[in-house]
Amino acid sequence: FHPKDLEGKKILVTAGPTREAIDPVRYITNHSSGKMGYAIAEAAEKRGGLVTLISGHTSIFPPFGVDVVKVTSALEMADAVMQNMDDADIIIKVAAVADYRPLEPKSSKIKKDKVNAVSEHSVSETFSAVGQDLTDASSFPDVNSFSANAALTIDLVENPDILKMAGERKTKQFLAGFAAETENLDENALAKIRKKNLDMIVGNIVGVEGSGFESDTNKVKFFFRDGTVEELPLASKKQVAHTLLDRILAKI
Ligand code: PMT
Repeated sequence: FHPKDLEGKKILVTAGPTREAIDPVRYITNHSSGKMGYAIAEAAEKRGGLVTLISGHTSIFPPFGVDVVKVTSALEMADAVMQNMDDADIIIKVAAVADYRPLEPKSSKIKKDKVNAVSEHSVSETFSAVGQDLTDASSFPDVNSFSANAALTIDLVENPDILKMAGERKTKQFLAGFAAETENLDENALAKIRKKNLDMIVGNIVGVEGSGFESDTNKVKFFFRDGTVEELPLASKKQVAHTLLDRILAKI
């Protein structure tokens, strides 16, 4: 049983990762499964809300009764949010948006022999990423096993900050962001509220067992614009979703 306390309210949720094309077969992404955002969309729909879910690629089924807009890249997600935010009452941005994208995605598959041909003197594979969790270095074969001339540099350019754009554009909407942090959660979360004109931010502790990316449970801390802070115990993403909606309803 769910109270219909979101009856008539329009709720916009973003979820999942974005994919930033390197070439037609490769992309940069992150570990978001979409579970947290989908749980919020589902909970809001069950409580009577009119829900639009803007989702990056995930392998989970969208909740029943929710209007789904599928996107791939951060630029597509930015467009979809701008197109759908004006009549929303509540916006919850759970998506893990790639901060950077390749400057010039190639129109055909990057070939190893071509990379070798243009970089005869380099000995390591190099990514010129700044601040983006591109890849786990340990998943690469030992650098020494590369041929001595294998080198590839991908120039990255910053993606738009969709949450900040929404903060600048919003009028009546209650705007909630998520912040996935491994350290300095409070400091980083509070800074984001101010910088992006948010009504609240959900600090998501990542890098600990059972919380954050891909798990069915989550450990979060709510920070509201008025200074209220609430830390939740480890709980299912479904439970976190309902508690989040309870708190948002109490504020609007
Ligand atoms: O999908 P799951 O596997 O269930 O995992 C859930 C989650 C860990 C992805 C989720 O709970 C979460 O923490 N989402 C936010 C992840 C994130 O990208 O945090 P951030 O600190 O990089 O971004 C902060 C906020 O700005 C987020 O609301 C994000 O949507 C937004 N953002 C970030 C960059 C950008 N270019 N545009 C944005 O709108």
